Amino acid sequence: MRTLITNIGELTTNTEAGVVRDAAVIIENERFAWVGSADDAPPDPAGYAEVDAEGRAVIPGFVDSHSHIVFGGDRATEFEARMAGEKYAAGGIRSTVAATRAATDDELRARLRGFIDEMRAQGTTTVEIKSGYGLDVETEKRLVRLAAEVTSEVTFLGAHVVPAEYAEDPDAYVDLVTGPMLDACAPHARWIDVFCETGAFTVAQSRRVLEAGVARGLAPRVHAGQLGPGDGVRMAVELGAASVDHGTYLSDDDVAALAASDTVLTLLPGVEFSTRQPYPDARRLIDAGVTVAIACDTNPGSSFTSSMPFCIAVAVRDMGMTPSEALWAATAGGAAALRRDDIGVIAPGARADLVLLDAPSHVHLSYRPGVPLVRAVWKDGVRV
Ligand code: NIG
Ligand code: FE
Repeated sequence: MRTLITNIGELTTNTEAGVVRDAAVIIENERFAWVGSADDAPPDPAGYAEVDAEGRAVIPGFVDSHSHIVFGGDRATEFEARMAGEKYAAGGIRSTVAATRAATDDELRARLRGFIDEMRAQGTTTVEIKSGYGLDVETEKRLVRLAAEVTSEVTFLGAHVVPAEYAEDPDAYVDLVTGPMLDACAPHARWIDVFCETGAFTVAQSRRVLEAGVARGLAPRVHAGQLGPGDGVRMAVELGAASVDHGTYLSDDDVAALAASDTVLTLLPGVEFSTRQPYPDARRLIDAGVTVAIACDTNPGSSFTSSMPFCIAVAVRDMGMTPSEALWAATAGGAAALRRDDIGVIAPGARADLVLLDAPSHVHLSYRPGVPLVRAVWKDGVRV
């Protein structure tokens, strides 16, 4: 079937074509077949299924390259305490571990699918999902298996924090992660991740985890610079990580290393919003030549939003990004963070993932925060 979406007031392509006014796109099966000016759209002898955008804006589907959405329970009480002045600490992860271990597969699956629906309704068409709330071999394996039911972008994050039972011997936990846990999880995952931070894993431990993952065919990505400065960012760049995520605290050397590399810096605006940490300066990064992505980091602790429009609005309001930079970061930037060139763009041959906004321009995503502007979503050529 061929679908023509026409009368698009503003089409953001993320390609050399830039922003096209009075545009149309043609979808054939799960890919874009043609993109251009509405007047030039080629006729279809068999007849298109036609959608009239009535002058609204169309953007690529959001690529959310960082989430932790397989878990049990929530931490509303922790959030409440934080809003009353408590500091965010990675240790809260352990309470989600207990709730996750206690949940059945069906419970976790129902929750996970609920988050996927929630994200899709807000325009997200690709989502990366991390394990990391199991922290034992059996539960981590369950989490990557469940994640693989809903995405091809699965990340093994056994090295999220050291679980309570290994508190006295963190290196023994790293042995478990790089040994039997990796063996059990690698077949279901594409990526290996580690939380390289004071209170989680040292640079030396993180390097061991990433190198073990790479030896098993997984590609590295890293959580670093969330709670304070450290050497994790440069270690990630050195290992060729696809992305370093958080980057709330970055030294000038970190920024220079990122700028000279293929490693994307993924900003997570929901985290600073909900932990009250200082917002990182995206302007500094972009002006230095760093490739920047935006992701939601949906998780019960540091950022329990699943809304990319919300994260875009915060990035524009508080991180110094322009509306078009933020949109690029949430689409093509996320694709770069996942080393994908078939998503995040509206171009012939790319996967037909797009969002029709209830607005004349993408600027409204940050100009009208909190307003549900996602009117319709196509994923793999199908309206969802
Ligand atoms: O990306 N930084 C580590 N992991 C998550 C937080 C997880 C939690 O607090 O439950 C993050 O912010
Ligand atoms: Fe995270």
